[in-house]
Amino acid sequence: MDMLKGKKVFITGAASGIGRSTAIAMGKMGCRLFLTDIDENGLKKTDDVISNAGGEICLARAFNVADYQAMTAFAREVHTGYGALDILINVAGVALFSQVEDMKHSDWEKVINVNLWGVVHGIECFVPEMIRAGRGGHIVSVSSTAGIIGLPWHTVYAGTKHALVGISEVLRYDLKKHNIGVSVICPGAVNTGLVQSVEIHAHSGSTDKFRRLFSKYALSPEKVADIIINAIRTRKFLVITSFDIKFLYFLKRHFFPLYHLIMLAITRFMDKALKRDV
Ligand SMILES: NC(=O)c1ccc[n+]([C@@H]2O[C@H](COP(=O)([O-])OP(=O)(O)OC[C@H]3O[C@@H](n4cnc5c(N)ncnc54)[C@H](O)[C@@H]3O)[C@@H](O)[C@H]2O)c1
Repeated sequence: MDMLKGKKVFITGAASGIGRSTAIAMGKMGCRLFLTDIDENGLKKTDDVISNAGGEICLARAFNVADYQAMTAFAREVHTGYGALDILINVAGVALFSQVEDMKHSDWEKVINVNLWGVVHGIECFVPEMIRAGRGGHIVSVSSTAGIIGLPWHTVYAGTKHALVGISEVLRYDLKKHNIGVSVICPGAVNTGLVQSVEIHAHSGSTDKFRRLFSKYALSPEKVADIIINAIRTRKFLVITSFDIKFLYFLKRHFFPLYHLIMLAITRFMDKALKRDV
């Protein structure tokens, strides 16, 4: 029998992209799903696709993962009705590319609230109960290439995604004694709603070109869902989805001067490709 069949899995960001594809794939495997997203209509569509294919959705509730009270209320509903989760998958996220001088305080807040607080809320509301249940389990957080590489224009996004790698590394060791595995996923470009929704503080002509270039090299969300599911099965910790990023990360750790030169070149490329609105 498939080791994931019947597992209780909570996925955030399930209305679109990576979260949606992961939910659909895990629904097909016989997982018992708990889903959320801030986009109620999108969540309903994911729910319909999974239910029509015979998958089991235990609860699907639209809320903002940055809202601690909303996450707490949802966790109470899950634990009262179904007990502790087996698998928590933090996917919901937003992106913003900007030069630091073009960012308002609200830009910092918005990205930190969803990408960092959203994941913290998932962990604090569900993991202690998983530990108490004593059945082990797994936690996945979707970080980014920007979680391991200091990508230019990504200040706040990279800050939140680096934080997810740090939190995941600590949990990897702290939770081993409870038989709870931890994976942090660092995708490169993925062809999802984010390609259009990423807020870029630059001239629209240049951002349109950038979005087209980005989607040309992007993986499909279905492929990333497969990678996430494989990471859970094999208990792989750090998962980098593309070879070029694996290579760059290798250079960062072992040949820093060369990495530094490449990063200077990438910064020059980004500054040229994205024209600031001044
Ligand atoms: N697309 C990429 O190229 C890429 C690359 C690296 C990492 N990622 C990460 O992958 C994750 C999933 O993104 P995606 O590419 O599938 O994008 P997406 O926009 O298709 O999906 C993100 C989902 O998160 C939801 N969401 C946003 N804010 C929320 C909130 N406050 N509360 C609840 N839900 C919220 C959105 O409604 C959306 O359904 C994100 O964390 C993103 O940072 C994406």
